Amino acid sequence: MRSSSDPKAGQSPGTGQPDWYRRAVFYEVPVRGFYDANGDGIGDLRGLQEKLEYLQWLGVDCLWLLPFYPSPMRDGGYDISDFMNIHPDLGTTDDLVLLLDDAHRRGIRIIADLVMNHTSDEHPWFIESRSSRTNPRADWYVWSDDDKRWPEARVVFVDVETSNWTWDPVRGQFFWHRFYSHQPDLNYDNPDVEAAMLGIVRHWLDLGLDGFRLDAISYLFQRDGTTGESLPETHALLRRLRKEIDAAYPERVLLAEANQWPADLVDFFGQGDECQMCFHFPLMPRLFMAVRREQRFPVTEILSQSPEIPPTCQWAIFLRNHDELSLEKVSEEERDYMVAEYAKDPRMQRNLGIGRRLAPLLDGDRGLAELLVALLLSLPGSPVLYYGDELLMGDNVYLGDRDSVRTPMQWSPDRNAGFSKGDFAQLYLPPLMDPVFGYQSVNVEAQQRSPSSFLHWMRRMLQVRKSYLQFGTGGFETVDCANPSVLAYVRVPEAHGQSGVAGDAPLTARAEVGPAVQPGAPESPGLPESRALPESPALPESPGDPQSPVLCVHNLSRFAQPAWLDLVRWAGRTPVELLGRVPFPPVAGGLTHMTLGPHGFYWFELVAESALHPEPALEDL
Ligand code: NOJ
Ligand code: CA
Repeated sequence: MRSSSDPKAGQSPGTGQPDWYRRAVFYEVPVRGFYDANGDGIGDLRGLQEKLEYLQWLGVDCLWLLPFYPSPMRDGGYDISDFMNIHPDLGTTDDLVLLLDDAHRRGIRIIADLVMNHTSDEHPWFIESRSSRTNPRADWYVWSDDDKRWPEARVVFVDVETSNWTWDPVRGQFFWHRFYSHQPDLNYDNPDVEAAMLGIVRHWLDLGLDGFRLDAISYLFQRDGTTGESLPETHALLRRLRKEIDAAYPERVLLAEANQWPADLVDFFGQGDECQMCFHFPLMPRLFMAVRREQRFPVTEILSQSPEIPPTCQWAIFLRNHDELSLEKVSEEERDYMVAEYAKDPRMQRNLGIGRRLAPLLDGDRGLAELLVALLLSLPGSPVLYYGDELLMGDNVYLGDRDSVRTPMQWSPDRNAGFSKGDFAQLYLPPLMDPVFGYQSVNVEAQQRSPSSFLHWMRRMLQVRKSYLQFGTGGFETVDCANPSVLAYVRVPEAHGQSGVAGDAPLTARAEVGPAVQPGAPESPGLPESRALPESPALPESPGDPQSPVLCVHNLSRFAQPAWLDLVRWAGRTPVELLGRVPFPPVAGGLTHMTLGPHGFYWFELVAESALHPEPALEDL
């Protein structure tokens, strides 16, 4: 078995696809909440490995694991007390290596959270730092005799914290923290801290991780007279980090978590020399706003404010994640609107956002969920799915902090949702048991058996997306339409005028990383062989021509809508609907008319005449 001490551990899979993340579908997994292999009530790395078969079947390309490091767990593991190990609840380093190997064999990559900004106050570095003003790590954290400095820096966790300074009676000084007062910020003005963090980065990349989600990355430095967000020093550090990684670890990705406005977000891409990916935080609440207002404006406005990004970079777009639905990057008026619409009960609010999952936010409206997922899969960027949302899982707003959206994955109607064989009382959180979203009605087993389930629909949509590289790497052009409830755009091939990034062939993802393991294959520790995973209802053959533009038309209204689309630029092409491969009448010279059902959407390949009626070959004449 490969282990952390094996010098060969973690060698790059070497697939020749340095920008794989631009075509990938990401899936966020809290290991603790996914599957419990040893029956102690807590999900673990071995449990996740057992469920790789399911994730492969679903069609995701890259897992993002929430922090798996030792931690007192006062912030879901983002309060790290040892960066170099695995939390004993979740397993061992060898378990991680096994997971990585198995995932890579299946064509699935894995990135993990890296929390550079802060540690737990139980981390030995902090214990040493607070012990005196002269110890070797005395300035590894940010200390001050008063709590007056940097008043411009906002408090993030407004539900529980009133200041970014906390008094430490041991050292007799205040320490700086952007999050909980048990999470002191590291001091990156000390080069030893950066060097220590680089060592941590190398440790995990050596084991085979495919990259990191950089938690809270905008907060690394503080400077007088600033908010302490996205400072030039932070970007310089990111460039150094990227250079180190590029030099020794090909095909790894850095994904920035920076809750900023678009103009500041793009700085995290640098000139293509900082993070390859960055979450598009402002887009997310505007998707929810647009469907509630039944108007495309919130989405089109924020997209028009989103600058071009370097050709090797990619937005990470998402609907929900393990935190509250953040309303930091909306106006106060918009925030009031969102809270009034989506958090009618004050118990649903968390900090400046809403602690609910996708399905309950939408009152369980499947058509609306399909519309939002269609937008997620077709707007510019790589989609990041949140575990359980492929089932339309619910939430529990009576749980504290953000645990409302972190309940156990619902695998089956069996005890503990099939998540754990432990006693109910042992579970890290109770599974949902309400009559609407509870595990007896919402679970993987039931949805796999039902060809019309949301799960099968999602799987088919992922298949379609992967047949058309345009969704990942294509350019984006909005289509004029007088009806404000209709959002239409074309994903044109070859964004940024770039062509031919190595390996840019249709749907080779399964073979990218290593020999693919077929779902249900005997070596898989998932379901027993006799219960091979079900096929989704067949789709017509879709070759997915990477040279065709793809037209996406979405009705944000709950009522049927007419749409007159300006497709003159594509006149003569035939729209072929992507799910059924049904040809529609060719695009004519004037406006093109379309009727959309409530929350309906269509995706079309705009096929050139020559592709539909190719010139007969000589031998056919
Ligand atoms: C962002 C993470 O997503 C959140 O869960 C965490 O509480 C903060 N960073 C602090 O680490
Ligand atoms: Ca366990």
